[in-house]
Order: sequence, then structure tokens, then C-alpha cells
Amino acid sequence: KEKWQRLSVGCSKLDRFLRGGVGVQGITEIAGESGSGKTQLCLQMALTVQYPVTYGGLSGGAVYICTEDAFPSRRLQELFCCFPPTFSEAQTNMNFGDSIFIEHIGDVESLKQCLLVRLPQLLTQRKVKLVVVDSIAGLFRSDYDPGDAVNRAKDLQVVGGQLHKLAEQFHLAVICVNQVTNVAGKKNNETQQQPVAALGLAWANMVTTRLQLCRTAHTVPDPHQPDHTVCVRTLQVVFAPNLPSDSCHFIVTKAGVFG
Ligand code: GTP
Repeated sequence: KEKWQRLSVGCSKLDRFLRGGVGVQGITEIAGESGSGKTQLCLQMALTVQYPVTYGGLSGGAVYICTEDAFPSRRLQELFCCFPPTFSEAQTNMNFGDSIFIEHIGDVESLKQCLLVRLPQLLTQRKVKLVVVDSIAGLFRSDYDPGDAVNRAKDLQVVGGQLHKLAEQFHLAVICVNQVTNVAGKKNNETQQQPVAALGLAWANMVTTRLQLCRTAHTVPDPHQPDHTVCVRTLQVVFAPNLPSDSCHFIVTKAGVFG
């Protein structure tokens, strides 16, 4: 039996695929191109984390660190209203919005401050069980000169190290969203461009579980609007301590991530 708990991602098919959801262990990275569904998954976990353990949650709040876009509150509200009734019932006595702490961060120095100073204070005062950094890539891709790999690697180590420390000390799930870059790779003996998580080895070494999302060319009818179609997406386990490297399909609808 596993040593660590898991947090539901709010989609039963993906939860089964991930053997219960994302592990409360180290850093889980969700990488993928723009529009692949990374933020949707994170928003759902900011909700599921608040549910009792019997519903796949961790009975705690979430810290959502936004580095690129403003926090999508309206989308979160919509997802909450569409969530399965069992989940909503478990929540009726709580105002879910009160348990999501939003931080807007514009540069690496502010991220370090947030993780080293503000978060430890907040985590000792409030029962928070999920920290999301959406995204780690933007800051680290823009804040350094091209030749400044050493300082960038150092800062990545500080950020990653502190996230690991907080995860262990406060028994939290930590999710970092990452972008992808296309690199040449071999597939079926042919050289093809393949999307690979950004930030290189310095960051990859800090990541415990790497999940990668992508859109496919296939579409299916939208279950909420049968006259519309939605694109089929894949979630791939790139590496994880106790999951096979496999992939699974999903779609994103008005009601969120759907198996
Ligand atoms: P970046 O933030 O650009 O890196 O992309 P992302 O991977 O975080 O994408 P995100 O999760 O924001 O969106 C993924 C997909 O979810 C979009 O392409 C839309 O198809 C769908 N989506 C996002 N917001 C909504 C919404 O409010 N309603 C519906 N029906 N679908 C949405």
C-alpha cells in the first residue's frame, strides 16, 4: 500500500488513471502547451482539496500563486456550480472561496519572498493542503539573460527546495504548472519535434511527478452542448514514483475536466 495520500483531480476517470489523483508528496508538475488544460486541472484541485478525505480531498484550503494571468475567479465559480452534487453537498456549510488564498507574483525575487516568508506564516495559521504555482515557467524564462544559466539554476533550486520543504513540513500537495518547448526526438524511427517540459535538467531534478497534457486533432460531441464539439486531450505520465508511463484521454467542458 502507498505511503502517501492522494488528492482527487475532480474527474473520476483521471483519478482512476492516477490511482486516486496527485500524490501528497514532493512536487507534481503539470506541463503542456498553451490551452492544453493545465489551469483547469489546478482550479479543480483548488476545489477538491477542500472536500473531506472520503470524497478524495484533504479537508484544507489552497494557495494559488498566479505568475502570468489574473486568477480566473469566474471560471472557478462556474466549475464549482457544475461540480457533482456529492462534492457540493460536502461543501454546503463552507464558503469555498474563503479557503483559496491568491497571490499574484511578477518576478522570481517575489516568488522566493512568498515561498520563504509569507507562505510559512500562512501555513502555520491556516489549514492549507494545496499550493499551486501557475506557472513556474514564465518567471524563469523571462527574468534571466540568456547566458545566466548558473543563477537561474540556483534560483530554481531555492524555489524547488522550499516547495519540497513546505510539502513535507505541512503535508501539502504541491502543483507547478510548466510550459513546453519543442525538441527534436525520434518516434517510429523518424525525427519529429516533440514537446518537452521547459526549464531543463535543473528543474526536472526537483520534480517528483511529471504529467504532460496535450491537445489532439480529434474532436467529440460536447456532452453539455451536443451540437458543439470539443477537442480530445491526453494526459501522459512522463515520470512518477509509482505510476506506469501511460496516457489517458480527457476533454474540457463547461463543467470542467471530464473523462
Ligand atoms: P495557458 O494558461 O495558456 O498555458 O493554458 P492552459 O493549459 O492553462 O489552458 P486552460 O486550462 O486555461 O484552458 C484549456 C482549455 O479549457 C481551453 O482551451 C478551453 O477549451 C477550456 N476552457 C477554459 N476556460 C473555459 C471556460 O470558461 N469554459 C469552457 N467551456 N471551457 C474552458
